[in-house]
Amino acid sequence: MSVKLAVLASGSGSNLEAIAQAINDGKLLAKIAVVIYNEPDAFARQRAEKFGIPAILVNHRDYKYRKALDLAIIDILQQYDVELVIMAGWMRIVTQELIDAFPERILNIHPSLLPSFKGIHAIEQAFNYGVKITGCTVHLLSLEVDSGKILKQKAVPVLPEDSLADLQKRIQFQEHIIYPEAIAEYINNF
Ligand code: GRF
Repeated sequence: MSVKLAVLASGSGSNLEAIAQAINDGKLLAKIAVVIYNEPDAFARQRAEKFGIPAILVNHRDYKYRKALDLAIIDILQQYDVELVIMAGWMRIVTQELIDAFPERILNIHPSLLPSFKGIHAIEQAFNYGVKITGCTVHLLSLEVDSGKILKQKAVPVLPEDSLADLQKRIQFQEHIIYPEAIAEYINNF
């Protein structure tokens, strides 16, 4: 059985690519039915095209309220019979409508060891704090940002000579490993 995924991305889409590649390599028994992106120039769109995945722009600027944006997204997810929603760098705060439409069926990845360093500047904050170990977390999406049940984590050491960019790279490298794995494990328990 191949589970139908949607990936929601706002930017580069490197996690989207890692997931699509894991599917192509037979490591993840799933299909990305659709990619939804909200920034017109998001590189995620080009990555979706490379894998032959339909990519749909839902520009948040066209919606007056968060709820209206989420209703438009739900509509697309239903059209594509999506069973599991994968947030991969989706930079919008979601509403209860989206969560209720896919209860326990929305995953997110965050570049810290949650519950430490929630929010958008997680890597920078951990770096400036001087932590010696940080990492990345795959979790269920909840209304409160970066607070849903944790599914998988990977620790990443901060080395003395690290620049912020070095650390970012090392965390993303691990994200690309654990996200497809976490999705595969989650799907197994459906
Ligand atoms: C990742 O670092 C993820 O943890 C965060 O946003 C970033 C998305 O990167 N939520 P990409 O668009 O997948 O390259």
